[in-house]
Amino acid sequence: MEEKLIKIAVLVSGGGTNLGALIGAQRDGVIKHGRISLVVSSSPKAYALQRAYEAGIPAAIVKKSDYKEEGAFEGALIGVLERAGIELVVLAGFMCILGESFTKRYENRIINVHPSLIPSFCGKGFYGLKVHEAALSYGVKVTGATVHFVNEIPDGGKIIMQKSVKVREGDTPETLQKRVMEQAEWKILPRATEKVCAAMLKEKRQGEKGHERIRNKTDKLPS
Ligand code: GAR
Repeated sequence: MEEKLIKIAVLVSGGGTNLGALIGAQRDGVIKHGRISLVVSSSPKAYALQRAYEAGIPAAIVKKSDYKEEGAFEGALIGVLERAGIELVVLAGFMCILGESFTKRYENRIINVHPSLIPSFCGKGFYGLKVHEAALSYGVKVTGATVHFVNEIPDGGKIIMQKSVKVREGDTPETLQKRVMEQAEWKILPRATEKVCAAMLKEKRQGEKGHERIRNKTDKLPS
């Protein structure tokens, strides 16, 4: 049964609280059609690596500054993911923008969590605390988080799930970030991951049945 589950890699750069939420969701059976098989960090200092270690999940480090060109960095990432047989890539606080050589290779198989209600406060330059600073300075009364598919446009892929969070009087970027994580990100990222895994597994099974049908028909052909 285990080998049938979708193999997930979680890409991280920092604290990894979203990775923590995914690990918890797997333990609690919220994620049941996929298995977190690998964690890849863009930084050797990321606390997310400790979380992976404690959960017994293999981890790798692929540092962007180790590569002269973006293509080489993405090639190294793809190599690590392919060697582990990864089918779904989950970006959980991964602070590198991925170019077309990566997004095309994993088309419809990369999802990302972003700490705002896309299309607000997203795209190049909007990451981490900067998103909440921008939301507060604009004066929005409602913000939230979005999980979406990743394509070549930063934060531009199809939306899978969103959850809103009210802004409170006196919120700072830090208090808002914490509430958006607790009330939105940590909830919708595991649910969206499960939703995508279930759909991928269904497609995989149908594909296998299709191959089987073709094989059966071929077997019956006169030689
Ligand atoms: C999260 O808020 C995530 O949505 C955000 O960085 C934080 C990472 O926290 N990601 C982005 O801004 C990407 N555009 P974590 O490492 O504790 O999960």
